Amino acid sequence: MILLVNKNHLFNEEMIKDWHMVEYENFALKIVYVEEETFRHFEMLKAHLKIDGIEIDIDDAYRSLEAQENLFLSFMKKYGIDEAEKIVAMPGTSEHHTGQAIDLVLKKDGKWLVENEDLYKCEEEFKKIHKDLKYFGFILRYPKGKENITGYPYEPWHIRYIGDDASLIGDLTLEEYLK
Ligand code: DAL
Ligand code: ZN
Repeated sequence: MILLVNKNHLFNEEMIKDWHMVEYENFALKIVYVEEETFRHFEMLKAHLKIDGIEIDIDDAYRSLEAQENLFLSFMKKYGIDEAEKIVAMPGTSEHHTGQAIDLVLKKDGKWLVENEDLYKCEEEFKKIHKDLKYFGFILRYPKGKENITGYPYEPWHIRYIGDDASLIGDLTLEEYLK
């Protein structure tokens, strides 16, 4: 079953009570947690892209309610509350709580790009990444021009594992597909 978590569909722990999170040390030696099946498919996606000369890794995946709260507060301090509300989900409304959402980072010219501003400049690389997501069960969760449906602006780095349905969803958002 595909979980829908957004501003109108709140997360609760019951949803993932039988799921297993894998512990993973990322490029920056930070420990991140990812839902098991999602992680397995991420590894395949990563290996596949590497053959094409694109190096990806995980910046963040599973977030507890507390981690989401801290992220929101840090964006609020940096950009103000209005901007933070536009781009960061309030605790309990983020699909990062499921462990099936991954924020990607990219290695370019030998350097890992982590900041949103830098990643927005990598359109060419993301175009290639987005094209192949569906073969590994992932979708681009917040595509361009769908802000009124998903509730968030374009996030080229945020991918979501939904399994086999990824090859059927086409240009629909998850909200539209599950309707
Ligand atoms: N940036 C996405 C919407 C989140 O905070 O879950
Ligand atoms: Zn994200």
